[in-house]
Amino acid sequence: MKVYALFLTFLVCFRPTFSSNFFQLPSPWGWACEEDKCVKKSAGGPTSLLTLNTCKITCGPAGALWPLPTMAIVGNEVANFLPTNLTHSLTCGAGGDSCQLLQEAVTIFQDNLHRYHPNYKNGSAPWVGPWDPPTLRHKLHLDVTIQGGDGILTLDTDESYELAVSRVESVTTAVIIAPTFFGARHALETLSQLAEYHETTNSLVLVTNATVSDAPAFKYRGLLVDTSRNFISVGVLERTLEGMASTKLNTLHLHLTDTHSWPLYLPGLPNMAYYGAYSPSNIYTPQDMRHLQHYARVRGIRLVPEIDGPAHVGNGWQWGPKEGLGNLAVCVNQEPWQEFCVEPPCGQFNLANPNMYTVLRKIYFEIYDIFNSVDIFHYGGDEVNLNCWNTTDEIVEWMTANNHSLTDDAYYEQWGIFQEKARLLMADAAISKRMKEPTGMIWTSHLTEMGRELRYLNQSKYIIQIWSTGDDPVITKLLQEGYKLVFSNHDAWYLDCGAGAWVGEGNNWCSPYKGWQAVYNNNPHRLALELTGNEYKDAILGGEAALWTEQADDATVDAKLWPRGAALGERLWSNPSTSWSLAELRLIHHRQRLMNRGIMADRIQPQWCHQNERLCYL
Ligand SMILES: *[C@@H]1O[C@H](CO)[C@@H](O)[C@H](O)[C@H]1NC(C)=O
Ligand SMILES: *[C@@H]1O[C@H](CO)[C@@H](O)[C@H](O)[C@H]1NC(C)=O
Ligand SMILES: *[C@@H]1O[C@H](CO)[C@@H](O)[C@H](O)[C@H]1NC(C)=O
Ligand SMILES: *[C@@H]1O[C@H](CO)[C@@H](O)[C@H](O)[C@H]1NC(C)=O
Ligand SMILES: *[C@@H]1O[C@H](CO)[C@@H](O)[C@H](O)[C@H]1NC(C)=O
Ligand SMILES: *[C@@H]1O[C@H](CO)[C@@H](O)[C@H](O)[C@H]1NC(C)=O
Repeated sequence: MKVYALFLTFLVCFRPTFSSNFFQLPSPWGWACEEDKCVKKSAGGPTSLLTLNTCKITCGPAGALWPLPTMAIVGNEVANFLPTNLTHSLTCGAGGDSCQLLQEAVTIFQDNLHRYHPNYKNGSAPWVGPWDPPTLRHKLHLDVTIQGGDGILTLDTDESYELAVSRVESVTTAVIIAPTFFGARHALETLSQLAEYHETTNSLVLVTNATVSDAPAFKYRGLLVDTSRNFISVGVLERTLEGMASTKLNTLHLHLTDTHSWPLYLPGLPNMAYYGAYSPSNIYTPQDMRHLQHYARVRGIRLVPEIDGPAHVGNGWQWGPKEGLGNLAVCVNQEPWQEFCVEPPCGQFNLANPNMYTVLRKIYFEIYDIFNSVDIFHYGGDEVNLNCWNTTDEIVEWMTANNHSLTDDAYYEQWGIFQEKARLLMADAAISKRMKEPTGMIWTSHLTEMGRELRYLNQSKYIIQIWSTGDDPVITKLLQEGYKLVFSNHDAWYLDCGAGAWVGEGNNWCSPYKGWQAVYNNNPHRLALELTGNEYKDAILGGEAALWTEQADDATVDAKLWPRGAALGERLWSNPSTSWSLAELRLIHHRQRLMNRGIMADRIQPQWCHQNERLCYL
């Protein structure tokens, strides 16, 4: 009783200050940049302190920029301004719709500035206010010049840029010069990272002098999202593209179809989605895809569609017999699955049925109708199960009738012939739209070994995507044979690894979880150097982290992709010679930026570490 009474007195005495004014009180803490790190200090001392965000964007050689630019000098002079106080002048010496894209990119840039506000709400875009004070006099002026390019991202596009920020009285000017729209877009991204929310004035704080000269280390900087094992909604793919834009990744590889489901609605072949989608609401219309393609392009990103085959096909292909076309796929949903495929459900193309090629041709033509430009097309092409084909009477009879033996080699040769036919059908589709054949992409598999690659995969027509381990000897062989490679070695860049198993108990096949540090440290040039003594700077186009979605959907995609996708972004853009530990502070802050942009990124440390730099080390 006595204790209780005392406590009450305490509460009554202190209550007025504590409960009503807590949020208006000046913080007892501030930060100072010392030896390139922000140190938390007691306010009210002899030195004037910075807010945490001001310290983050000005401290250290590159402030809070992510990914690290090739060259950056970030000054420590700042000004407060409002994202509404933005003017711009754009000069486009470029063809295509570059200038219109740039106009849109400026709007996105401005929206990203608004998103720094802790109360940013979606619903009334463009969101404005409540910023304080509306009378703030400082202004940001953008002076952007695009020198050329046609607004289409290819493997030859120059994505470099120059950014110079300087201040004259109450105007800070950012001068951006880039060879193409894509470089200019990257520059705006960098500039947005020289600003932050200013906690004590409810405005933005902006670095007013900085010089950046920047270009990517790798041309191909990708993420893969599987939309077949589980459906991923357009909104979540948009968020994925936002995250990619913030970290200068430039390729979203959509693994659109697999045995599990066929979510892509094709107007000329409605049966595919009718039979294959999980539900009528789990589909992408052509408008959805065109919307995503534009959404991506204005953020500096290309879409790479994948229609997997000749394995990883099944649901969606069952309508052949009903339409008088025979079995287009075999072993569909066949049990026991262990005998016919690597994971349930099974299914492979029926190589013996010429109608399968007629349908495939139509699919490729539809792909060209949906996507205005297809720079790279992914044929999938892995994990063919020979027992499936070899236990299907129709296929065995066809093999025998054509005098093929029933050996592994004979079947793999038929796979090679299938692949070449598929490529020619895709080339036809491109020609019908007066476009050049897209560069093909294909996974490492039995088709990329034993000399079959040389017979069926022309080096000038295919990029090979490595999904085995980073020390697989097949990498050496393919490089020596002159192939261009994209790395997705699963020991570092499979983002689905590390979870409970989904067939049986224990952990999933590629456990453990790949931490952001492992993602960051996976350097394709170094892997090539260790294997071959040569970095193969030209042959290695880049890398891609893969999110296979057996165990992910809308609810979990963000946290699986981010912030590890950002670690990938810096590896592929900057390719630093240093390891993850020097990047940690900036990554923790970039994760906050992803959150501001509406991405539910995973938390990787206590907030205390964000506020007490370099004290969470071993
Ligand atoms: C807000 O959300 C809607 C759908 O919920 C979306 O169409 C729109 O693009 C979003 N706006 C912003 C600014 O994120
Ligand atoms: C800044 O924006 C506010 C709100 O939109 C406006 O009232 C003010 O005049 C602008 N100031 C300058 C210097 O442009
Ligand atoms: C920042 O401004 C100062 C003084 O105007 C100048 O000496 C310095 O070079 C500038 N720094 C950068 C990074 O531009
Ligand atoms: C298979 O071999 C037989 C005997 O050598 C030959 O008569 C027949 O034409 C061959 N069939 C095909 C499809 O090549
Ligand atoms: C296919 O089946 C036959 C027996 O019916 C067998 O001799 C052959 O080895 C099998 N081939 C493969 C690739 O499994
Ligand atoms: C590969 O394609 C190129 C370009 O079309 C062609 O010149 C070359 O002969 C092809 N190589 C082989 C081995 O077919």
